[in-house]
Amino acid sequence: MADRVIIDTDTATDDTLGILLAVLSDRVDVEALTIGAGNVAFDRQVENAKYTLQLADAAAEIPVHEGARSPLVKEHEHATQIHGEGGLGPDLVPETDVPSAEGFAPEYIVDAARERPGEITLVCLAPLTNVALALEREPELAELLADVVVMGGNVHTAGNVTPAAEFNFWVDPDAAKIVLDELDVTLVDWGLTLRDGTLDAAAEERITDAAGDSRFAAFYETVFQSDPEPDATVIDRDETLQPDALATAIALVPELIEQRGTYAVDVDEREGLTRGHTVVDTNGVTDREPRTDVIESVDTDGFRQLLCNTIVHGDPDRSFE
Ligand code: RIB
Ligand code: CA
Repeated sequence: MADRVIIDTDTATDDTLGILLAVLSDRVDVEALTIGAGNVAFDRQVENAKYTLQLADAAAEIPVHEGARSPLVKEHEHATQIHGEGGLGPDLVPETDVPSAEGFAPEYIVDAARERPGEITLVCLAPLTNVALALEREPELAELLADVVVMGGNVHTAGNVTPAAEFNFWVDPDAAKIVLDELDVTLVDWGLTLRDGTLDAAAEERITDAAGDSRFAAFYETVFQSDPEPDATVIDRDETLQPDALATAIALVPELIEQRGTYAVDVDEREGLTRGHTVVDTNGVTDREPRTDVIESVDTDGFRQLLCNTIVHGDPDRSFE
């Protein structure tokens, strides 16, 4: 289980719940947020991250380091159709006046890992550009980090940004390829999100009922009120998809994991139809080393209770059955 985490994020709707879960929990110390290019305009993501920290009364303690404003090689489009122009739905466009921390995010990640070898878990909720740039600066990063939990990819599942690819891996497939090649990653993919990483109507009802008392529930109602466009994967509209909170929950509460498998996982970095596609060698037929820990199922009820405790009570550590 993680003790200290750095959260790399392209802060928009679902990222904010992963951030709140970690910041409000006593299970971990959040060392910093690092911002990477992804969901919406970079400076919006920076403000969204600072606003989320302010919501948890943590903006003075947790620094926000700005990172890469574009993928390593590719051009990318934002996902404003999912998250709204500003990333937090149509009605919330925060301006916090909180200063960003000194230090380019990839350099901060390397410095922090060197200062606390074996103590820091990277929770990656964005395209992996910052992590790939950190690896470029410190090739021994794998030995310095406790764990790397990545929300990304689509294991044997249609993608959400194209039929072939999930958004984080599609935005920067070159970075995803490098990171999976050089780090032992715990992978939380889009398929797991669809199966086990949603808030259902019952959970949403609890949150709506609490909106008058909990600022986190009121924030959730504001941010998730706008009906997202149907993405490449059609799901039951009564549920909201929470990939980033799921990845953070797995880093904080690994007991939620029910099934996992270690495989060789690669990413198609070529431009075109299969850009960003996740290739998983489940039958061991390639000569690639199986090193990616693919999470295959999670206790959905436990995840929903953990996230509802965070949103309704502001207390992720509240006991749940
Ligand atoms: O595909 C889902 C992922 O892409 C999430 O991390 C979401 O925030 C976007 O970054
Ligand atoms: Ca994200």
